[in-house]
Amino acid sequence: MAITKEDVLKALSYVEEPDLGKDLVTLNMIEDVQIEGKTVSFTVILTTPACPLKELIQNACIRAIHTMVDKEATVNVHLTSRVTTARAANAAVLSGVKNIIAIASGKGGVGKSTVTANLAIALARTGAKVGLVDADISGPSMPVMFGVEDARPHVFQTPEGKNLIQPVERYGVKLMSIGFLAPAESAIVWRGPMASSALKQFITEVDWGDLDYLLIDMPPGTSDIHLTLVQTVPVTGALIVTTPQKVALADAQKGLQMFRQPQINVPVLGIVENMAWFTPAELPENKYFIFGEGGGKALAEKHEVPLLGQLPLVQSIRENGDYGTPAILQEGSPSAAMFEQLAEELARQVSIRNAVAPRTQVVEMNR
Ligand SMILES: Nc1ncnc2c1ncn2[C@@H]1O[C@H](COP(=O)(O)OP(=O)(O)OP(=O)(O)O)[C@@H](O)[C@H]1O
Ligand SMILES: [Mg+2]
Repeated sequence: MAITKEDVLKALSYVEEPDLGKDLVTLNMIEDVQIEGKTVSFTVILTTPACPLKELIQNACIRAIHTMVDKEATVNVHLTSRVTTARAANAAVLSGVKNIIAIASGKGGVGKSTVTANLAIALARTGAKVGLVDADISGPSMPVMFGVEDARPHVFQTPEGKNLIQPVERYGVKLMSIGFLAPAESAIVWRGPMASSALKQFITEVDWGDLDYLLIDMPPGTSDIHLTLVQTVPVTGALIVTTPQKVALADAQKGLQMFRQPQINVPVLGIVENMAWFTPAELPENKYFIFGEGGGKALAEKHEVPLLGQLPLVQSIRENGDYGTPAILQEGSPSAAMFEQLAEELARQVSIRNAVAPRTQVVEMNR
């Protein structure tokens, strides 16, 4: 009997997207079903190009066709993606940006900027459109980490007469940092309100265009800048970076709870434990838990958020950051593999969040 499109869709309606808990047909993830004799082809639209479940879903589709339609069919599964968003289609600010992710910590120096830079490039390398805002107004890191200290973004006028800043592009990521506007050696003391208005400008007066993910590298602490961010844009979710140290964990917890306050209400997508152990280059199998062990896991369990990854302290991660060539670019290295995996886990949590949680609203506050 000839295979029909209905047979194919019926079979695929038994394939579940493991994270979203519904089947691919219900989720509108199947398109372009074509049948020629015993050859069945269709496209699966994933929720992110960084989907860690790609292969699993592809294999499940093939299995479903073989068991429910025809065990001799040749099955061609094309995988593509359309990044999901929880934002309204007619959003007033950053209307082309699907997901805004804040990377925060509480304690300083735990590796937020390092993690953000590597994640941004990792996501861009999967094919996603990625932007990065360096929200650390008084201590910007991105110009150095991306090796673009001398870049000076253009300002241009839109047909409507509005001035927009063109972000700097590097390693496939659109970047904006105060470091592009003020020379590194100038000792500008940014007062709270000035820093807040600079951040607002970076978000609203930059030509970000269409982005799947806009990552925001936050300054340490729980400052005015954090409030400005959530008041300026609806933040999709926050990623909390910590080290296993007691003092870092205590601060990370404060950071996490700030996003969860009812009046802010930004979902925490997960925790990253950075500097989880030290691994010397000459003994890659050895782990020294110099800052303690298991802190990130304990924090994640206590607050019921996923621990998205553990990154070791390795000299090359620091060096690559200082040289403007983030570790993710070292093709095939263990560090690159870890950041790739972390990027997939983050993208996965964003997809889950968009499927289940309500929209984040811009926070209105009268202070
Ligand atoms: N996993 C790691 N291995 C080695 N060095 C690291 C690692 N993570 C971060 N570093 C280094 O630690 C220093 C602090 O990292 P980073 O600037 O990313 O932290 P931060 O949390 O953004 O700091 P701040 O709070 O000042 O913004 C940098 O020199 C960075 O290169
Ligand atoms: Mg930083």
